[in-house]
Amino acid sequence: AAAVPQAGAGSRGPRGLRLLRRVGVVDPASLDEYRAHGGYAALRRAFALGPAGVIREVSDAGLVGRGGAAFPTGRKWDATARQPDHPHYLVCNADESEPGTFKDRVLMEGDPYALVEAMTIAGYAIGAHHGYLYLRGEYPRALARLEHAIGQARARGLLGPDVLGQGIAFDIEIRRGAGAYICGEETAIFNSIEGRRGEPRSKPPFPVEKGLFSKPTAVNNVETLVNVLSILTEGAAAYASVGTETSTGTKLFCVSGAVDRPGVYELPFGATLRELLDLAGPPSALRAVLLGGAAGGFVRPDELDVPLTFEGTRAAGATLGSGVVLVLDESVELPRVLLRIAEFFRDESCGQCVPCRVGTVRQEEALHRIKDRTGAAAAGDIALLREVGQAMRDASICGLGQTAWNAVESAIDRLGVFEPPQNGVSV
Ligand code: NAI
Ligand code: SF4
Repeated sequence: AAAVPQAGAGSRGPRGLRLLRRVGVVDPASLDEYRAHGGYAALRRAFALGPAGVIREVSDAGLVGRGGAAFPTGRKWDATARQPDHPHYLVCNADESEPGTFKDRVLMEGDPYALVEAMTIAGYAIGAHHGYLYLRGEYPRALARLEHAIGQARARGLLGPDVLGQGIAFDIEIRRGAGAYICGEETAIFNSIEGRRGEPRSKPPFPVEKGLFSKPTAVNNVETLVNVLSILTEGAAAYASVGTETSTGTKLFCVSGAVDRPGVYELPFGATLRELLDLAGPPSALRAVLLGGAAGGFVRPDELDVPLTFEGTRAAGATLGSGVVLVLDESVELPRVLLRIAEFFRDESCGQCVPCRVGTVRQEEALHRIKDRTGAAAAGDIALLREVGQAMRDASICGLGQTAWNAVESAIDRLGVFEPPQNGVSV
């Protein structure tokens, strides 16, 4: 989908945008244009503040992770920086693979120097001299643009042994994924970089303590890192004045499906789903919106005033996740959408632990059996789905198995997907 940068009230930058302000405006190959549009002001401020000062600003700004889990970034950086074991590593998770998520691609293709600068700041804050950028294998244009940007930054002394002449060493190495969804899980990334099978490790220990090569590691999503530039140039208080008290700043939303203008939209946290859909051009007969991706939940047409915040979507029985907004109209056959989601999880399970390896297969089988049934004819398999879903949630090692039943459960409980047809019309 094309990028359709949009701004809501309260956001910043020449077009009212923060994260997307240079996308589509600057030549992504030109370091000079990046600098002319404010580039490297944040790194200079970071060096003036010192590592502890940078972490304080990021904490005060209330920044939380944008990969989906919303963990406080300042707390993660602080925990990594304090580890006595060395070296420390930074890993940027750019393996954007959640179905319906394409925001990081837009940032990396449209403003690659922003990620290079933000990774340099993160490395400085946590005391890492080496950053890995783990890039989704299916993003060749992002790869080319990032390789060019890293080369230019190195040539101009913005990466390397003496960044900006400050005596600080930092460099970035790109590693490409090879198509496995599970390699976006942070500990599977470590295994992949280390040359092992891309399988998640058990947590704890958390990466901040024992991560890449068993060393303290901060893993951050692309969008999370790019936010740090605004925090340092605007200051924590100005940054946090946008959004809500507990979800500060702006968020990128990936709108796809039955809308007139699919794309990436930037809005302050707290804007409603209705406002976002109005920008994207909603369908005349809306059936539901899947928020948070395959592991997320469904929102009904009567719930569009839900505020787009982490807490607001959770209260509505959905999740913000990585910003997926998949719009379904009445023409969609929901049981087949669920079956497709179940196939995806069965296919992408790494097979390491039994609840997920077997549960995702049983889930797909049950959905296949009942895709054309409702009411009493579906009841036995719905009971089985609940039992299998709970076992996956409780006993799987990683987030894939723990959330593989979320969307199916949401469709059953919130949309009544397998309930008998009303007035002869089936869902
Ligand atoms: P998580 O909640 O286990 O961890 C989130 C982050 O906080 C991790 O970096 C973890 O190391 C850190 N953390 C948690 N507790 C900690 C502690 N006590 N001390 C130090 N660090 C701690 O979530 P997970 O499994 O890493 O991510 C799940 C999310 O990923 C889901 O919300 C899902 O939406 C999202 N996701 C995003 C995808 C994408 O393409 N952007 C793809 C698939 C899933
Ligand atoms: Fe692999 Fe699934 Fe277990 Fe995660 S939950 S480790 S994807 S088998």
